[in-house]
Amino acid sequence: MSGIYVKDLIKVYHDPETDVRVSALRGLDLFVKEGEVASIIGPSGAGKSTLIKILCGLETASGGSVYIGDTNIIELSEKEMQTFRFKNIGIINQFVAQNLLPNLTVEQNILLPLKMRYASKQRARKELEELLSALNIERIRYNPVTKISGGEAVRTSIGVTLAKKPKIILADEPTGQLDTANTNNIIETFKELNEAFNTTILVVTHDLRFRNAFNKSYIIRDGRLVGVNVEMDRSELDFLIKPQESSLQSVIDSSQFVRLPDEVYQTGEFKHIVEFDIHPSKKFSILFNPNDKKSKNH
Ligand SMILES: Nc1ncnc2c1ncn2[C@@H]1O[C@H](COP(=O)(O)OP(=O)(O)O)[C@@H](O)[C@H]1O
Ligand SMILES: [Mg+2]
Repeated sequence: MSGIYVKDLIKVYHDPETDVRVSALRGLDLFVKEGEVASIIGPSGAGKSTLIKILCGLETASGGSVYIGDTNIIELSEKEMQTFRFKNIGIINQFVAQNLLPNLTVEQNILLPLKMRYASKQRARKELEELLSALNIERIRYNPVTKISGGEAVRTSIGVTLAKKPKIILADEPTGQLDTANTNNIIETFKELNEAFNTTILVVTHDLRFRNAFNKSYIIRDGRLVGVNVEMDRSELDFLIKPQESSLQSVIDSSQFVRLPDEVYQTGEFKHIVEFDIHPSKKFSILFNPNDKKSKNH
């Protein structure tokens, strides 16, 4: 009921004021089965946060389909999506502090959603104890959340999310600010929680320490998948994630997006509209490029 199935997902951001278009996702496919824990690794700008926002309905898609369980969330109205998110999806925000209420203690933060969930105080308390123990934060339960470490804040934040009993947890760069020991600890925590609660978990990150950590590891670059679920060493990952600087080849995919090599893009000073002139010999030239003084004077 709560797997994540994404097919040909396209997202083009359009700023009507400047008329600039950015294609953040260019035909992305993704398959996370119910109860799986998966990571998507990619460099900054790859489209990771965009994907998370679309999955939880905070951004609309420009094309493609996104199923969560049996529901194609792209077809839901804003109101329906809100209800759907509330019932099914827990989000661990990139900026962990934003998940926590600063005036409250660790325990109070986690107890809040539990109290909303259960009329019985005893039931809420019982689950609080379970969560504190599962996340190994009993020691700091009475600390205000402003007085805990980065790793503890991430674990508390996971606790708040879990207290809402979501079927799916989406985490955006949860270990961005953490050192290796704490990152490994969070990776283990996600695995344990996945086993204990059977929650489907998707973590997006630029952190290579997540490679091979879970059931599935996807690699994303320029809004597309470039690798799946393979045991890769550092050099293989670098090869997939980094753009090839020297290549002057372009790729056109079925959605007709073209990624120009950076060198061509910069030299040509292309904007999003460029007109070409095709000669009968099939050679072509640029007829109009709004950024280029020469063609403007045509
Ligand atoms: N609201 C927005 N408007 C315009 N462009 C955006 C917006 N959000 C993200 N982008 C662009 O979309 C691309 C992907 O961004 P993002 O999803 O944040 O990537 P990541 O999380 O992997 O760093 C980037 O080129 C970014 O500049
Ligand atoms: Mg991001």
